[in-house]
Amino acid sequence: MALDQKELKVERETGELVELARQARERAYAPFSHFKVGAVVECRDGRVFMGCNVENSSYGLSLCAERVAIFKAISEGARDFARIAVIADTQVPVRPCGACRQVISDLFGSDAEIVMANLQGQVEAKTVKELLPAPFDRSFL
Ligand code: THU
Repeated sequence: MALDQKELKVERETGELVELARQARERAYAPFSHFKVGAVVECRDGRVFMGCNVENSSYGLSLCAERVAIFKAISEGARDFARIAVIADTQVPVRPCGACRQVISDLFGSDAEIVMANLQGQVEAKTVKELLPAPFDRSFL
């Protein structure tokens, strides 16, 4: 029997998602900041898209891991995003920057989980609306 995609439950454990983000971080291209970040987007159909930060000698052209993962997902036709995880080597679980919060807010539901982690094994989850309350969105356009 064909399953309606919308009814598919995301069953991946949070730890598995964090592990994928950790693996993505290993590919970070951060020769300028030396601050490596990994991210993974999980779709409701179970697909995952990994991303790392990619820096450039013209610093402002650098891309965050979260946006690399999200744009990879979009470019592969994914739309129905469930969660995003991000990891870095930080004292407390790393937070997505403001620009990434805006992009996440545009594409994920306001109750979707943002899983934040560090290499020490600390993991914290907050919803999109907790990390970006009162966002600018398409309703203003
Ligand atoms: N960075 C991310 O990849 N994600 C964030 O949410 C915060 C910052 C990257 C951008 C840059 O390559 C490095 O971390 C230092 O800012």
